[in-house]
Amino acid sequence: MTNCFFDNVSYAYQDPTAPTLRHFTYDFSSSKTAILGANGSGKSTLLHLIDTLFEANEGTITIHHQQVHQRSAKAIRKHIGFVFDHPENQLFAPTVFEDIAFGPKNQGMSKQAVTKTVYEAASFMRITDLLDHSPYHLSLGQKKKTAMAGVIAMKPDMLLFDEPFSGLDPASLQTMIDTLNQLEQRGHQIILTTHDVDIAYQWADDFLLLKEGTLLAHGGTEVLENESMVQEANLKLPMLYRLFQHTAERPKTVEEARSYMFSEEGGPCV
Ligand SMILES: Nc1ncnc2c1ncn2[C@@H]1O[C@H](COP(=O)(O)OP(=O)(O)OP(=O)(O)O)[C@@H](O)[C@H]1O
Ligand SMILES: [Mg+2]
Repeated sequence: MTNCFFDNVSYAYQDPTAPTLRHFTYDFSSSKTAILGANGSGKSTLLHLIDTLFEANEGTITIHHQQVHQRSAKAIRKHIGFVFDHPENQLFAPTVFEDIAFGPKNQGMSKQAVTKTVYEAASFMRITDLLDHSPYHLSLGQKKKTAMAGVIAMKPDMLLFDEPFSGLDPASLQTMIDTLNQLEQRGHQIILTTHDVDIAYQWADDFLLLKEGTLLAHGGTEVLENESMVQEANLKLPMLYRLFQHTAERPKTVEEARSYMFSEEGGPCV
């Protein structure tokens, strides 16, 4: 797994005396990390720093045992795949096939290997029927899947997803969660941003709460169960926690909640 360590990192877009990310220290060691916070709290900025697109004004970032700086950024970025919050910003080829093929081609794969890789990634994302389409004429969900296929095709260790759950219908949302779980099971380290405490609560192992560029809290699900902390971050307690906080067990997923409600112990709460 790619290790990623931030040591006292600050980053300012313009005024260095008012940085967007402030004295951020964190060891991203879990395979399922969710970064949560209100609009403008610095989530996307943090992902861009992990992707070495921005350079810290202060502090150090170490990824894959290499400190991030201008000379090391290109080599480090080979280990990282980033799916932007607006997928159209990373789709540019005339067809979905060519879009997904771009990364593997750049990696120097043979034509045959590129085709095989594109079909594997498209089939994993369930978009083989879209390969001849123009990426510009797709729905948001289809664009997200195409951008993900393009990133997965390059087989990076670490995958960054900025707001992967936004704008998806319930079925696509479930497919997205399943896809992220499959990617994690394949050995990818996943770091995502979201405002959705309910999905994050069910999906992640490791949680970071950001407020105005500062790390308010981090840890396991207890982070999202701390009402004052969650309110401080302008978020809300997860629905499952609100429903089950006074019961003997604390289901973390809808499936766990359902089996608990129909168990002998949880029976009376049905
Ligand atoms: N390119 C930029 N130039 C200047 N300021 C920026 C730029 N991008 C973001 N910012 C500022 O940095 C702060 C953090 O922005 P960021 O996009 O990281 O927040 P976020 O938590 O991802 O928000 P959202 O939930 O809306 O996506 C905001 O105040 C924003 O206005
Ligand atoms: Mg953002």
